Amino acid sequence: MRKPFINKPFEEYILRGKNIIVGICGGIAAYKTPHLVRLLKKSGANVKVALTDAGARFVSELSLATVSQEQVYRSMFPPTDKAGMDFTRHISLGEWADALVIAPATANTLAKLASGLCDDMLTACFITLRPGKPVLIFPAMDGQMYLSPSVRRNIRTLAAQGAIIVNPESGDLASGQCGTGRMPEPESIVRDIEQAMLSSIERSMLHGKTIVVTAGPTREKIDDVRFISNYSSGKMGFAIARAAALRKAKVTLITGPVHLETPPGVERIDIESAIEMHAAAVNFFSSCDIFIGAAAVADYRPSVYYGGKMKKESGELQCTLVKNPDILADFGSRKTGSQLAIGFALEQENGLENAGKKLESKNLDLIALNFFDRKTSGFEVDTNILTLINREGEITELPQLNKDEAARKLLDMIEAIYRKTSIDT
Ligand code: PMT
Repeated sequence: MRKPFINKPFEEYILRGKNIIVGICGGIAAYKTPHLVRLLKKSGANVKVALTDAGARFVSELSLATVSQEQVYRSMFPPTDKAGMDFTRHISLGEWADALVIAPATANTLAKLASGLCDDMLTACFITLRPGKPVLIFPAMDGQMYLSPSVRRNIRTLAAQGAIIVNPESGDLASGQCGTGRMPEPESIVRDIEQAMLSSIERSMLHGKTIVVTAGPTREKIDDVRFISNYSSGKMGFAIARAAALRKAKVTLITGPVHLETPPGVERIDIESAIEMHAAAVNFFSSCDIFIGAAAVADYRPSVYYGGKMKKESGELQCTLVKNPDILADFGSRKTGSQLAIGFALEQENGLENAGKKLESKNLDLIALNFFDRKTSGFEVDTNILTLINREGEITELPQLNKDEAARKLLDMIEAIYRKTSIDT
């Protein structure tokens, strides 16, 4: 194996000199927004804040003005001492912006945006933003509110208009309950803005590419109430699908049973067993540009399936297991031309050696090695530590990253393979 090399950070300077409006609504997550503004400023962006009246109850105008080094915009009507000099302010702010980021977005503001209501600077910016400029919306609210049919409908409307909706995260909520509704951390929001800017300015190499991602576990039935499975949560595969959709790829996610929301813009196919996952995947083998196997597919299934519930007998129960099809290897053996096969290797020891063997035997272009300590990497946890190995044997060791960030790095590496291929040919 050759020495590790550093992947080119192609998104590093993307926000420098860009004009970004941060729209802040009235939710407890608003307390995170001064930090968000600071991070954007540190990235070299010019930031102006549009704060709703409700937002001003959660975060102070003074803090936001201090970190943005700009006045904070609230009312569409200029202060009386400026009346007559600033009569187009409800238009000019939206025209100024290269991107609009609404974080947190409340149910109330989502409803206004979806219906075209425009009674403060934030909603005016949304309407007056120039075509093609990215809008990123980060809904954050109580879990029940987020799941209400009207919020779901408004989110769908905004997504259909081209807004990038970033699903809230799960965890402890201000209501004291645990559920979906938390705004992502500012660092993650900045990464999403970078990705969106990249797709809108410099088209990502993955723009328009057809990508199939497998995710989650498979369940191999013993009878109608029992199965063999594993601890995969689907988080890694879903993070990849989400990151690829943000780069405007056409993404199909084939997933085993998981408790995760479908990322916006992603087509989802739910399956249960390895045989079903294989059958669903085969349909895309000839048409997809990239196949990414992040699923923890059960290698074996019971040879006999008992319909109904098997009765408990005295003595031992013998269960013979037969091999499941290897979905990724099947794609690897059939791929043609510029199609890319990307795999994962979940290992316990001799990681590099075993991952290298899988790369070869499954005819992959890139493999992501990870280990299953279930504290920092592998199954269930929100973070992963990936080592990426390409066909030339080049190794990129990534640090511990949250799975969204790890997914972006994996896609960066896939883009690098595309770039190299287009230079070589
Ligand atoms: O879902 P999470 O909780 O977020 O956890 C993420 C993960 C640990 C599941 C993920 O990061 C991961 O490592 N996925 C691959 C797990 C695995 O099955 O590894 P493997 O080394 O056994 O398989 C190698 C590759 O072949 C994988 O890309 C796998 O998807 C694929 N495979 C394996 C067997 C099979 N029958 N069909 C396959 O396609």
